[in-house]
Amino acid sequence: MAKETLNVFHSAQKIGALTYDAEGQTYSFEYEESWQKAPDAFDLAPLLSRKEKTHTGTAVRFFFSNLLPEGEMLEIVSKAQGVSKYDPFGLLRKIGAECAGALKILDAQSSPPDGKSYIAVDMKELSARARSDAPEVLADLGGRLRMSLAGVQDKLPALLDVKDGIFLPELGSASTHVLKPNNRRWKIFPHSAANEHFCMRLAQRAGLRVPKSQLLAIPERLYAVERFDRAFQRPISVRRAGPLFELEGEPVSRLHQIDVCQALGLPPTQKYEEPEYETAPGPDIVEVTNAVVEATGEALTAKKQIIDWVIFNYLIGNSDSHAKNISLLWQGRRWIVAPAYDLVSVAVYSDDPEKLHDFAFNIGADTRYGWITGLSWYEFAESIGVGYRYVQAALRRLLERVGEAGQLLTEMTGELTEDEVKLLTKVVALIERHSEYVEEAASTMPEAARAARGKAKSG
Ligand SMILES: Nc1ncnc2c1ncn2[C@@H]1O[C@H](COP(=O)(O)OP(=O)(O)OP(=O)(O)O)[C@@H](O)[C@H]1O
Ligand SMILES: [Mg+2]
Repeated sequence: MAKETLNVFHSAQKIGALTYDAEGQTYSFEYEESWQKAPDAFDLAPLLSRKEKTHTGTAVRFFFSNLLPEGEMLEIVSKAQGVSKYDPFGLLRKIGAECAGALKILDAQSSPPDGKSYIAVDMKELSARARSDAPEVLADLGGRLRMSLAGVQDKLPALLDVKDGIFLPELGSASTHVLKPNNRRWKIFPHSAANEHFCMRLAQRAGLRVPKSQLLAIPERLYAVERFDRAFQRPISVRRAGPLFELEGEPVSRLHQIDVCQALGLPPTQKYEEPEYETAPGPDIVEVTNAVVEATGEALTAKKQIIDWVIFNYLIGNSDSHAKNISLLWQGRRWIVAPAYDLVSVAVYSDDPEKLHDFAFNIGADTRYGWITGLSWYEFAESIGVGYRYVQAALRRLLERVGEAGQLLTEMTGELTEDEVKLLTKVVALIERHSEYVEEAASTMPEAARAARGKAKSG
């Protein structure tokens, strides 16, 4: 049986080739020699070092399958492309030209240089697809499904010009933004676009590094976030060039990013520490921290960023802050923790304490928001190798900053609908409730936490 190959590029430079051997059902990746020697080159991931020319096995397969959409979106994409959802190679052949990070995956025949060509979006079609009851997804706009971004939500990588004109990259060109419509399960998760935009703005106030986001109304809501894995000239402007549009100035360039599942060599199905279904459990927060510390080589900075990300997600009730919602970004010479993304208050969507009120990671021994105490944070601090007082100080700092949630909502009212304000008022109330837990936890003295742990252990 034949072996098939896809070429992997960064800009016009070939990084290597991904080969699928259908007979043995095996994957391998071979670095191009020129890439191995290039001074500005990077590894696909720390576990796939370019010091070794060839990598094989699940490490390769999992790295590439992590680039694909997940859940219902994976079903939709694979149906649209007529490729099995269990065939990451076949899917990437169809949709790998504009991935997360720097990689451009193309079949062995094509090797286009970085493009500057874009197609104007049919706004009527976009608006129809952005409705939460739309039969067709945003991602397949114009029947040109080419995006491979992870996640279960519908989304569209696009270029937004200075006038908020929306354009789709032609093969080889890069996007500047990710657009997300309201969650398609509107009845359960209404106004998710406003929710995410608000949480991202609050995160910025809380001192987390986040990309710029905005809410578009076409008139359906779209959450639009700048891609932190793209570098481009501002302001972005395009001019008509025949049937297409051409970007003025330099083409958009790609920066490499990987999520923590890729950093750990795990498949996307292991993103949750405690999965709901019969999949294997994913990494706990200690393994996540270790992976990030090891990749960045900056223990203190990495730990601070993880601690802030965990506490912020806890405060807003983001029950979905799993291992694919934290990434590493290649900054020329080293990995750094990527800006935060996908920050959404999920717990606001359920009044039932049994549903959506569990944090994705164990903090100490608990996941239930109200049950996470000073002892839980003490154990969290100890497990990731920082002093409890350091975590306590972070809890207090973030507590104070998210205390501005109500004020922020007032400032944002002008850009929100009445119903969005209603939902976000509930988010603010939830943050206040979680802040009370955190306040109580933060006032637990280390001696008391240690004594409580002693008791818990001997009991
Ligand atoms: N602003 C951004 N810049 C660059 N990449 C991004 C950005 N936002 C998201 N991504 C990439 O797209 C992927 C999916 O995004 P996101 O997590 O927002 O989607 P989602 O469908 O809501 O995810 P989930 O399945 O966790 O709900 C991320 O894992 C990340 O690789
Ligand atoms: Mg996500």
